[in-house]
Amino acid sequence: MAPGPAPATHAAEPARSMELARLVREEIARSGGAIPFSRFMERALYEPGLGYYEHAAIGRAGDFSTSVSTGPLFGELLARHACKAWTRHGLVDRPGPLPWIEAGAHDGQLALDFLSALRALRPDLVPRVRYVLVEPSATRRAWQEAKLRRFGASVEWAASIPPFDGVLFSNELLDAFPIERHAWDARGGRWWRMGVTEHDGRLVGCRIGLDPAHDAFLGAIPPELLDVLPDGHVVEHSPGAEAWWADAARALGKGCLIAFDYGFDASDRFRPGRSHGTLRGYSGHQLVDDVLASPGSIDLTAHVDFGRIQQVGEAAGLVTSELGSQHRLLSRWMAGDIAAWNDPGAWTPARLRQWQALSHPTHFGHAFKVLVQERPWPAPG
Ligand SMILES: C[S@@+](CC[C@H](N)C(=O)[O-])C[C@H]1O[C@@H](n2cnc3c(N)ncnc32)[C@H](O)[C@@H]1O
Repeated sequence: MAPGPAPATHAAEPARSMELARLVREEIARSGGAIPFSRFMERALYEPGLGYYEHAAIGRAGDFSTSVSTGPLFGELLARHACKAWTRHGLVDRPGPLPWIEAGAHDGQLALDFLSALRALRPDLVPRVRYVLVEPSATRRAWQEAKLRRFGASVEWAASIPPFDGVLFSNELLDAFPIERHAWDARGGRWWRMGVTEHDGRLVGCRIGLDPAHDAFLGAIPPELLDVLPDGHVVEHSPGAEAWWADAARALGKGCLIAFDYGFDASDRFRPGRSHGTLRGYSGHQLVDDVLASPGSIDLTAHVDFGRIQQVGEAAGLVTSELGSQHRLLSRWMAGDIAAWNDPGAWTPARLRQWQALSHPTHFGHAFKVLVQERPWPAPG
């Protein structure tokens, strides 16, 4: 595949966004006046050639930062963790591939950081690594191929999750699936599904009828909670993220799924401060007031309900070994490999800044959670 243009072409945004808005308005008209919010979000983020993730840059030059865009330390932490896991499972000492799978790799930066760190730490292992990027988009795959060419046969691609043993890793993937939004009508004692319609040429929010596909989710909300929910309280869920996790669990032979993302667990689901939901739009590192105004030119995202994702994995037979803050897990990884981090000379100001961004509670350390679910790997024999 020929390398595509690098992400981030802000100059082209208004035309692209206007074209996408036109397509959305057409679909609204075809659908009798409204579409579900989830459908709007799907097109805004993933419409081939026009959606946000078809052109977005992540990091300082883009609209938001991630642990990956803070610098190469995140990839180094993962590479060191992978080496320990491969060693623990007896893979390093016998011939055969060393597997690592990443989904939601965007432009391939994390894979580059991971493999570059590995080349510095254990160059002998690099030819044995089988780093698979799960990437459904031809555009993003072209960016990744261009960035990772130097690692040759160590890198492979799959359009969907292949059956695997080992680790399937993702950072800020689960929050990027289209979400369903429902609003509570306290007077009528019922839920409305939230949708998008057109008014005077603008895309605006509206209420639409329920879809029975969401009965189980809404029906699981305790009646005693409904008695006290304020009018208009919004609940969100992500059927796409849950289905993806279920697929990943089915594809996993032995090993684990690791997801880093911001979100909450079951105990924190109905916090009163979240009455309007957690949907956010970002542009130029600022919150956007109107998330419907320019589809394709802003990032749309919502907190991950890790409690539900955890249930999906456990229903598929996985065992939860971690659900806690990013700070807690990364600190534990570091403490478990303390000799590697002990050299004060290696802690340049840039590296220290990256560690603070990854771990400090006011940066990524607390709001970001990590879920690890496993199908245990037999002891090496
Ligand atoms: C918020 S970005 C995170 C990018 C990167 N992991 C990081 O942390 O900088 C989410 C990425 O997941 C991708 N994505 C969404 N659905 C996907 C899927 N089903 N499989 C693989 N990638 C997906 C999006 O296109 C986007 O590139």
